[in-house]
Amino acid sequence: MSQATGVSAKFDLSAYLKERQQWIEEALSAAIPVRYPERIYEAMRYSLLGSGKRLRPILCLASCELAGGTVEMAMPTACALEMVHTMSLIHDDLPAMDNDDYRRGRLTNHKIYGEAIAILSGDGLLAYAFEWLVRQTRGVPAEAVLEVVARLGHAVAATGLVGGQVVDLESEGKTDVSLETLHFIHTHKTGALLEISVVSGAILAGAGQDLIEALTDYAQKIGLAFQIVDDILDITGTTEELGKTTGKDQKARKVTYPSLWGLEESRRQAEQLVYEAKNRLDPWGDKAIPLQALADFIVARTH
Ligand code: IPE
Ligand code: IPE
Ligand code: MG
Ligand code: MG
Ligand code: MG
Repeated sequence: MSQATGVSAKFDLSAYLKERQQWIEEALSAAIPVRYPERIYEAMRYSLLGSGKRLRPILCLASCELAGGTVEMAMPTACALEMVHTMSLIHDDLPAMDNDDYRRGRLTNHKIYGEAIAILSGDGLLAYAFEWLVRQTRGVPAEAVLEVVARLGHAVAATGLVGGQVVDLESEGKTDVSLETLHFIHTHKTGALLEISVVSGAILAGAGQDLIEALTDYAQKIGLAFQIVDDILDITGTTEELGKTTGKDQKARKVTYPSLWGLEESRRQAEQLVYEAKNRLDPWGDKAIPLQALADFIVARTH
């Protein structure tokens, strides 16, 4: 059993999440004030400041601290990750993609601002994310910041999130999608950004190769578990809990783990991945408790 399983009982994850969510939301709000032309800033803020879990920035801050760095060093990158993630949600919801009406408990960006502004909001957030992390990061060697920029670009480009979204859309309605293809979709559309969220924090703190490798393994496992749970919640969750329309995957005939394996086996696989992810960080002792608790949160979450 993971060493932290017993210790983490004393770790108050909900207080930890709440505090960090607040720091991140304040930093995000300050990063994008409304100015001329107001409509695009309002649209970006509308999606960015909705009720997200802030999982990606929280992972980045936690891994920076595990590697001996500070929250301040990682906050600009943490905000950039949330900007990139929000771009992916705005675009994912567009009529040309998943055609969703609700996100983060309210109408989707294009429902309020129209498709053109929704597309441009995503573009604006994506580009600004890179400027923000380069200009605002303090106390970190320029080489480390450059490495994060290169890896973040790789995680979002056709080599990562975009490539995964393409195969996700191409697989809609197909009945013969292989497990290998489904694995590609999940590890790219969701896993790549979660991986850089974890690894970037460690790079900024100047972590050694053994920690970077352990965090990469941890992140790949929680990344896959995260999307398996997202697919399970699309079936078992309620729209109120999730803040987004449920039952959409089946309607759009998406290939998902529950569609291939069933709910029970999908849940078992997600739990196994999280168990392995936590074990991978055991050598770092108590310092790994927040990341281990965050891994548990990924399978236990109801939204
Ligand atoms: C939703 O991500 C999109 C996926 C990659 C499955 P989250 O579940 O992290 O959404 P928010 O940020 O909390 O709204
Ligand atoms: C999310 O996949 C992938 C990205 C947003 C990059 P989904 O399409 O399953 O996400 P939700 O369920 O709409 O949040
Ligand atoms: Mg999608
Ligand atoms: Mg979607
Ligand atoms: Mg989904």
